[in-house]
Amino acid sequence: MTTIRVVTCKTEYRINPIGLDVRKPRLFWQMRSDHEGGVQSAYQIRVASSRDKLEHDQADMWDSGKVCSNTSTHVPYDGKPLQSEGEYYWKVRIWDGSDMQSAWSETAYWMMGILSRGEWNAQWIGRKTEPGALMQPSPFLRKPFEVKKKVLRAIAYATALGVYDLNLNGERIGERLAPGWTDYNTRVQVQAVDITDRLEVGEHVLGAILGDGWYAGTVGFLGNKVYGERPFFLMQVSINYEDGTRDNIITDSSWRTSKGPIHYSDMIKGETYDAREELTGWLLHGYDDSSWEAPDVRSGYNGLLVAEVEPPIRITQTRKPVSMKKTEAGTYIYDMGQNMVGWTEVKVHGERGTRITLSHAEMLNPDGTLYVANLREACQQDHYILKGEGQECYEPRFTFHGFRYVELIGYPSEPDLETIVGKVVHSDMPVTGQLETSDAMVNQLYSNITWGQRGNFLSVPTDCPQRDERLGWTGDAQIFARTAAYNMDVSRFFSKYVWDMVDCQQPSGAFTDVAPDAGWIRHKNWNTRLNWFAPDNSGWGDAGVIIPWTIYLMYGDVRILETHYEAMVKWVNYLKNTTNELVRPGYANYADWLSIGADTPNEVLATAYFAYSTKLLALIAGVLGKSENEITYQALFSDIAAAFRKAFVANDGRIHGDTQTVYVLALQFGLLTEEQRKQAQHHLVADIHERGDRLSTGFLGVGYLLPALTDNGSLDVAYKLLKQEAFPSWMYSIKHGATTIWERWDGWTEEQGFQTPSMNSFNHYSLGSVGEWMFRYMAGIEADPKAPGFKHVIISPKPGGDLSWVKASYESLYGRIAVAWSQTEEGDFRLEVEVPANTTATIHLPDLAASVHKVGSGRYVFESISMLN
Ligand code: BGC
Repeated sequence: MTTIRVVTCKTEYRINPIGLDVRKPRLFWQMRSDHEGGVQSAYQIRVASSRDKLEHDQADMWDSGKVCSNTSTHVPYDGKPLQSEGEYYWKVRIWDGSDMQSAWSETAYWMMGILSRGEWNAQWIGRKTEPGALMQPSPFLRKPFEVKKKVLRAIAYATALGVYDLNLNGERIGERLAPGWTDYNTRVQVQAVDITDRLEVGEHVLGAILGDGWYAGTVGFLGNKVYGERPFFLMQVSINYEDGTRDNIITDSSWRTSKGPIHYSDMIKGETYDAREELTGWLLHGYDDSSWEAPDVRSGYNGLLVAEVEPPIRITQTRKPVSMKKTEAGTYIYDMGQNMVGWTEVKVHGERGTRITLSHAEMLNPDGTLYVANLREACQQDHYILKGEGQECYEPRFTFHGFRYVELIGYPSEPDLETIVGKVVHSDMPVTGQLETSDAMVNQLYSNITWGQRGNFLSVPTDCPQRDERLGWTGDAQIFARTAAYNMDVSRFFSKYVWDMVDCQQPSGAFTDVAPDAGWIRHKNWNTRLNWFAPDNSGWGDAGVIIPWTIYLMYGDVRILETHYEAMVKWVNYLKNTTNELVRPGYANYADWLSIGADTPNEVLATAYFAYSTKLLALIAGVLGKSENEITYQALFSDIAAAFRKAFVANDGRIHGDTQTVYVLALQFGLLTEEQRKQAQHHLVADIHERGDRLSTGFLGVGYLLPALTDNGSLDVAYKLLKQEAFPSWMYSIKHGATTIWERWDGWTEEQGFQTPSMNSFNHYSLGSVGEWMFRYMAGIEADPKAPGFKHVIISPKPGGDLSWVKASYESLYGRIAVAWSQTEEGDFRLEVEVPANTTATIHLPDLAASVHKVGSGRYVFESISMLN
């Protein structure tokens, strides 16, 4: 007899989230079936206002009844209105295809946050600026309080204009670099922490340390104080006592503040910490804060206080160095063995007043010193001044660095490999992708791609983590979004980033080059000495459509499309308004950024991307049931494609510019006639061959290059490019020791050494967008836009490139999808596929007959024995 179960109940993509502000949170679960072809035919959800009620089947908030549906993701709560700070417990049971019923799932829950502004009693507090100080010391804030009665539930809601660390009785209770980066003029995210278990009857102390963060600290090359002068903190703790009464602890003028050991801590400029100035005991009860000041209370905040959407920033790994070398200057250079992002913790024993410095860089100069020229105005140095009290341990707080090498300067004794440890810091997104092949270099490439994501997905998708830039470049984000979504669960990360884009969408409808904008447009105008400069660039602003579409495709999230539909319409209208007979001239100032030996004309790029945004918008309108709009945008797309052909495609199929990128964009965006497709493919392949089987694409072309070749019958060429080791290629960087994706193909070459230091990052994920091809084509795990979120999985592996095997898996919202193929030199082929319950798959075998199998959930093995045997 078949048994079915329900597991992994989530609310808004999370397990048991708290502090939500979505009025109709979406519920998710997974079906497990011990038989093939398990499908859900119906579900029933029950939601109650207490665990007890739910256990006694009193669904006082919502009982969906038995709903005949195979939907098991994004089911919106549809019960009684949710209350501010309400807690809701839920369970679900399902029926399968033969109407067999599962047991109820385990109880899951979510808690709402503070839903209206009027319920916020807390005040924003900070500390007055130190006169004359160029870099401001971090404010320390404390509040002792007493809990007199037994606590039933206590939730701390906190946020900052700036960044904050939150502590209760000396223990950290919050995450790192919270609340992340938003356009603070528009919104700030509120974090919620359940502290019930920590609030016993007795004395307690809440303590917060503030950093300038993106709010008041240095943002890229845009200077500091972009949003405000100095940081402020806001917190409200809601305590429910067992006797039914309630209490609040809020930030207000009763708190005390002081400066402490952190002289400054800046994202771009590093940190200085003087341990002699530590405020020993400040986080404990009984500390004498009489010398502290009253806080500076800010008069208010005009932006929105929203529940945190993005995943928290965390230390996700610690790494030991792999080697250490003493330099002639008496310093020590450590190699972490991996280009990473985060910071270093150091242990030290020495005399009071000794100053040690940790300096970080991605590469070494030929003479073995740190290569810091590419950091521009960034200073990846943390300074620690010893208090001289035995073993001391230090790590910085409100900064981060991109580095593989760490130089330890001024260390008072002989350090060793245990002296430092690297902390890997980023937005903590669950890993969803695994990929391994028989080729070690391909595996290293995949590793480099994932490290690029780890290093650059820190609150926003940054271009790079090391120099004075670290901005949310929209073009980089869109080209990598699909790869990112295979590697990790980016549902929340990108949902938040789309808000960042929408928050700085221009009145014209233009999405900007960077989001949050942080003054980039102003900077650009100033820099170019123009009064008006297009805020957007083709392939950049288009992220405002491409990213929501990607989230829809990978997760089946319709709400992101609904929510931002108007913004996307505005964008496409803006594009249309800036064309000349549907050809967009000159709106692609970054062109095919960092292409190599092949300049793609701006107008070709701009028109191609205009067509693509329009095409996606038509699809989105279709998903949302706006059929009139769908028809309008489809027609507009056809017209743009026709205008593109007229303006740029010659009779022999050559496209203006004649670069690999013009062909791949025209092919992948569907801009050509059948005849022209063949010609384009021919010209594309010919160009690759002429270059000795090498690519020339930049950021915009690279993501589509291997897919275009594969879709149009040149899989062998795609593999040649993947495995090419000569310059320019991915493997060239790997042959020279790369552990992350470089910004430029020629970041370092045998002939030239380092590229110009003014723009030479060794951790830029954009050219790593080939990861998408590795999953979709090489492994063959493909989403279906007609049944998105992998409700229907397309399995279509494409063996080649002398790989004898590939194994890949993707943790979808329904569960694990896995593919493992192997082939022998004789041509025997074996494919193993795993399909999760409540999904179906179409498996395309790469055999001579190109056979197709439609299957339900389960594990399948296909073997084909070569005719040669
Ligand atoms: C960034 C890129 C970005 C580009 C725009 C650079 O400075 O590092 O990643 O997309 O500017 O052209």
